[in-house]
Amino acid sequence: MVVLGLQLVDGFGRVARKLRLSVTDRCNFRCDFCMPLNPVWIPHREILTYEEMARIVRILVSMGVTKIRLSGGEPLMRRDIEKGIKMLREIPGVEHISMTTNGYFLAEKAEALKRAGLDSVTVSLHSLKPERFEEIVGRKDVFSKVLEGIDKARKVGLEPVKINCVITRGCNDDEILDFVELGRASALVIRFIEYMPFDGRHMWSPEKLVSGAEIIARIQERYELERLPREPGSTSVGYRFKDGGKGMVNIITSMTQPFCGDCDRIRLSADGKIVPCLFSRDEYDVKSLLRGGASDEEIAEFIRRSYRRKFAGVEALIKSGRVQPLIRPMHTIGG
Ligand code: 5AD
Ligand code: SF4
Repeated sequence: MVVLGLQLVDGFGRVARKLRLSVTDRCNFRCDFCMPLNPVWIPHREILTYEEMARIVRILVSMGVTKIRLSGGEPLMRRDIEKGIKMLREIPGVEHISMTTNGYFLAEKAEALKRAGLDSVTVSLHSLKPERFEEIVGRKDVFSKVLEGIDKARKVGLEPVKINCVITRGCNDDEILDFVELGRASALVIRFIEYMPFDGRHMWSPEKLVSGAEIIARIQERYELERLPREPGSTSVGYRFKDGGKGMVNIITSMTQPFCGDCDRIRLSADGKIVPCLFSRDEYDVKSLLRGGASDEEIAEFIRRSYRRKFAGVEALIKSGRVQPLIRPMHTIGG
């Protein structure tokens, strides 16, 4: 039995409620703002099995975590991901399971994912121009498959379907309004993400960052927006169209206005490290305990101790300009 009732609280009183679970560091895309040119993959034996993941999730749930987001790399690259989802779904106390995916395998997998217990998906789509999209993700003939995936996800009821769009100046910042039109026409949630320096190719620069404020200003040139109250712990701020238009805009201001003050996330990397904060190098190897025969209580205590040391937040780091060199490439933890 796991010791119940003890929440995961960090040194600033923040309580963990959501888990970002990276199921693989592999990806079939090579987005320029994410993947190094020559990625070094984690060896298979170091990747947690679904049984190991489920055990940690059970322990985390006993400490108050209720929502899980599966990420990667590309989570649909992981073999039998449906089996993994089903195992997580069967854990009492898991209220919501979502996934961030590049959408490539979604058309073929959406139905099985839904059946296994996945609730919703977020699909990354950084351009609506096929050639530009394929240049960003470094793969040919993939654009239409991603669109098909989005369509299929909605058809099988993976609701809501959200779109993640990383805006970088000089690349796709001329498409902000096109994305807004897509959101309105198809009743989709469009999430604009500020470009973060987690890029494996060290391409990030402050000039390429388009702030959330600028994105909103550009949208307001065409549509009046109503800012919605931010849910505690949420990474984004939501906006509705004042003219009653369908769809929604979410802005993720991780760089210009990070919401570290009420962060309620904890991360588990594919190779079994507890990562309390995306912007900190700190990680705690829980896999060694798992594979070394530790009891649930010992693992729970280890996670609790790791989480207590969670980094205060990223504001000071950004102000000091110390964000480069990169902390870790995005594909190794999944955002
Ligand atoms: N900055 C911002 N977002 C990024 N993503 C990948 N790399 C970066 C980056 N450097 C996005 C992915 C995905 C989400 C998890 O983060 O495209 O949508
Ligand atoms: Fe793959 Fe996502 Fe990274 Fe693109 S951003 S390379 S889809 S893990």
